[in-house]
Amino acid sequence: MTRHVAVLEGDGIGPEVARAAVQVMQAAVGDPAALEVGWHPFGWSAYEAGGEAFPDATRAACLAADAVFFGAVGAPGTLPPEVPRPERALLELRASLGTWANLRPVRPHPALLDASPLRRERVLGTDILFVRELTGGLYFGPKESHPDRASDTAEYSVGEIERVIRQAADLARGRSGRLTSVDKANVLATSRLWRQTTDRVIAEDYPDITLEHVLVDAMAMHLIARPATFDVVVTSNLFGDILTDEAAMLTGSLGMLPSASVGDGERGLYEPVHGTAPDIAGRGIANPYGAMRSMVWMLRLSLGLSEAADRLDQALDDAVAAGSHTPDLGGRATTADVVRDVLARLDER
Ligand code: NAD
Ligand code: IPM
Ligand code: MN
Repeated sequence: MTRHVAVLEGDGIGPEVARAAVQVMQAAVGDPAALEVGWHPFGWSAYEAGGEAFPDATRAACLAADAVFFGAVGAPGTLPPEVPRPERALLELRASLGTWANLRPVRPHPALLDASPLRRERVLGTDILFVRELTGGLYFGPKESHPDRASDTAEYSVGEIERVIRQAADLARGRSGRLTSVDKANVLATSRLWRQTTDRVIAEDYPDITLEHVLVDAMAMHLIARPATFDVVVTSNLFGDILTDEAAMLTGSLGMLPSASVGDGERGLYEPVHGTAPDIAGRGIANPYGAMRSMVWMLRLSLGLSEAADRLDQALDDAVAAGSHTPDLGGRATTADVVRDVLARLDER
């Protein structure tokens, strides 16, 4: 059976890390007949070329694929008000695919403990799985823009909260059984519904899970003060966006963080957590590990190729252990060097 992967490279370092990740993923799979990879225009580059950041043909290809891999999206600088922000296309992509839970694992590699700005003894033992709600909240509520005022509305339904809490609780069950839910229930009505729903779902169906609620401002502090004490952390769309960039620094660089977005079916969306990195784009030095590790999740969760996933996972760990580090990690490797090193590790296995 041939599996179909739609790749949307996007903008900035998106194409650099996407090409690197596809290359090592295909090597890990080995059999060229097992996978068909299609490349589709998306983002600012697509808008410039054809006037649409998310062309209909790209949408159709994503919906027909078994998995979608996405690089990064963004426009250079500030745009005139009549030009739509290309980031909107990413929100539409997530909504079209129905991928409402975004998994962002934060597991610092032993060889990179000193790459984090935190002291190594603080970082040691950290292994957090963030579950970010991805298709609701402030990102998707009604918006208004006027010359003299603007508004964004946060909305959550019980159903939207419940499914992501269940996803997180199921994942916690396969780990230590501890779940931290992050909200702002002292101020926000959506957070109070979030907390109430979480308490009910856990009490009814997950008596084995230990649940704690933490307010988001305090969580921003705890993540730095005692990161190793958290296991699965579930939160809303905006809070998850912010907290995971913060948590990325436990691994040494935002470039290390992968993500997997899942919904009701097996089709998923896989993307590194970082953006287009305009400050380093085009120089060949982007850290491809977050993109490559997202491929591990894709092979495992959407393509059913768990042996290839394990091989790639191990090869990435080996390459990091051997010192294949890009400049953001304090090293001198280029993106191409990392690809070469990961391919060599795959060959050894
Ligand atoms: P960013 O994530 O692009 O970069 C933040 C910092 O981290 C920069 O210094 C960058 O050089 C560094 N960095 C990020 N990824 C890296 C990598 N793989 N290797 C080495 N260094 C890396 O965030 P930003 O600068 O705030 O945003 C730039 C653009 O990207 C904006 O247009 C934003 O909207 C967009 N963006 C897109 C996504 C996405 O597509 N998923 C995510 C975040 C931001
Ligand atoms: C991310 C990004 C996106 C988000 C932007 C580009 C829309 O920051 O994937 O974390 O906020 O979800
Ligand atoms: Mn983000």
